[in-house]
Amino acid sequence: MKLLILNGPNLNLLGVREPEIYGKQNYSDLCQLIEAHAAELGVEVEVRQTNHEGVLVDWIQQARGQFDGIVLNPAAYTHTSIALLDAVAAAGLPTVEVHISDVRRREAFRQISYVRAACVATITGHGLHGYLEAMDVLIHLK
Ligand code: DQA
Repeated sequence: MKLLILNGPNLNLLGVREPEIYGKQNYSDLCQLIEAHAAELGVEVEVRQTNHEGVLVDWIQQARGQFDGIVLNPAAYTHTSIALLDAVAAAGLPTVEVHISDVRRREAFRQISYVRAACVATITGHGLHGYLEAMDVLIHLK
């Protein structure tokens, strides 16, 4: 089993960016946590980050046939992107939406998630651990 973990804009700034909201651990810590969990689960994993919406669309399209599931933190594109919703719907792969912060308890504009409609689950507000929970959801679907 091979999982693709995708991160959207500004998540490369973890640890520096608003630590009171996103925590003190940095992007490299996140990658290490995911890789260690993948090793425990005995699955392959690839972790990527981009600041560009179209790159996320390309990666989701290319995942078909290459991966068995996607963990997606679209960051701010969650709240704006119909293109990402369409890409996830077209990919034909189970996808779990993840947010580090609890978007349900933040600004009104963060209550909207376009991608959610195409995702099998959403994990929000569990910090970096949410990515590991999303991986667990995907492996239990199989
Ligand atoms: C986020 C929440 C989004 O609202 C925000 O734009 C992000 C990160 C999260 O992981 O909590 O960049 O997706």
